[in-house]
Amino acid sequence: MKKILVANWKANFDLHQSSEWLKEIRTILEEATIEVVICPDFISIPITASLVKGTSISLGSQDVSQFEKGAFTGEVTTHSLKGLVRYALIGHSERRGYFSETTEVILKKARNATKEGIIPIVCLENASQALSYKKGSGTLEVVFAYEPKSAIGTGQPESPVKASGVLEDLREILGGQARILYGGSVTEKNIRNYLDRGFNGALVSSASLDKEKFVKIVSVLCDTLI
Ligand code: PGA
Repeated sequence: MKKILVANWKANFDLHQSSEWLKEIRTILEEATIEVVICPDFISIPITASLVKGTSISLGSQDVSQFEKGAFTGEVTTHSLKGLVRYALIGHSERRGYFSETTEVILKKARNATKEGIIPIVCLENASQALSYKKGSGTLEVVFAYEPKSAIGTGQPESPVKASGVLEDLREILGGQARILYGGSVTEKNIRNYLDRGFNGALVSSASLDKEKFVKIVSVLCDTLI
C-alpha cells in the first residue's frame, strides 16, 4: 500500500500562489513513489486540477458541504467537486473548533463525499472522536488522520510514543486495515518517527507551504518504502 502525504494549504495561498507552487515542483512530485495529495482552497481547485491532470498527483478539498445540493448559500457541495478532487478533508480540528462541526455533520459530509466517489480523509483529534465516528459510519471507505489539537501549527508535535499509543487505540476502533495518517507539526526531521511506528503517511500544513521543506518530506516518505 502506498504511503500518503497530504498538503493542507488552509487559507494561505491565493490562486496565483497555488498555481506557481504546483508548477515549480510538479515534476518532482510526479516522480514520487507515494501518493501526494494537495488540498488548495476552493477557489484554486479548478486551476490546480488542470495542472495535475494526467499526473500521479491527487487533489483534495479542505472541506465539503453537509448538504447535497440546493438552496444553501455559500456552500460547496460534493456534487460540484466531483471530477475535480479525489479526496476531501473532513472534520479538521479547525472546522470542529471554529465552525462547531459535530460528528453528525462530519458523517453527513463523509457520506456525501462517498456518494460522489470522493474519498473522505476524516480528521480525528482523539480516540473518542474515532469511536463516535465509527458508530455512525457503517462501511464507508475513508482515510483517517490523527491530529492532536496541541500539535497543530504549534511546532510541538506529539511525542511518537504517545502517538503510537493512540494509533493502537485507533486501529482497535477503526479496524486493523484502516489507513491512518499522523498530522501536527510534521517536518522532514520528525516524519520518520511516525512512519516507523506504523502510520500510513502524514497530513502536513505549515511545512507544505514551503516547497523545499515539502519536497524533503516527500523524499523521506519515498525512502521509507524501500
Ligand atoms: P501543521 O498543521 O502541519 O501546521 O501543524 C497540520 C494540520 O492542521 O493539518
